Amino acid sequence: MRVTVHRKAHFNAAHRLYNKSWDDSKNEATFGKCNNPYYHGHNYELITSVTGEIDPETGYVMDMKVLKDIIKEEVEDPFDHKNLNEQVEDFFELNPTAENIAVVIWNKIKKRLGDKFELEITLYETPRNFVTYKGE
Ligand code: NI
Repeated sequence: MRVTVHRKAHFNAAHRLYNKSWDDSKNEATFGKCNNPYYHGHNYELITSVTGEIDPETGYVMDMKVLKDIIKEEVEDPFDHKNLNEQVEDFFELNPTAENIAVVIWNKIKKRLGDKFELEITLYETPRNFVTYKGE
């Protein structure tokens, strides 16, 4: 039986969206408030969803304490209260949209989980705007 377990996490981070090959007016027109050169913050809500077989010995898909620690080490510690553009290497050359942040998080957590689990990342940038990524 394949079951999906979900863990919620949270981080606050600042970003600025822009494409350095565009001029200021195209960046402003495309990214609006998120193009503010002085940066701005979001309260990101992260849902990490792991699908796998129930281990007959433990009854778990995976130990949630282990998942919690992976999320803390890979996402909360490096991203929380950071300026993503300036302080997080993954975004030095990558626009820190919710889409790109979700892909970066998926890659980091997937590396820790290995091949026996499927992973889906859901990332809320605002209570109404969220993205999902499952490595496809
Ligand atoms: Ni923004």
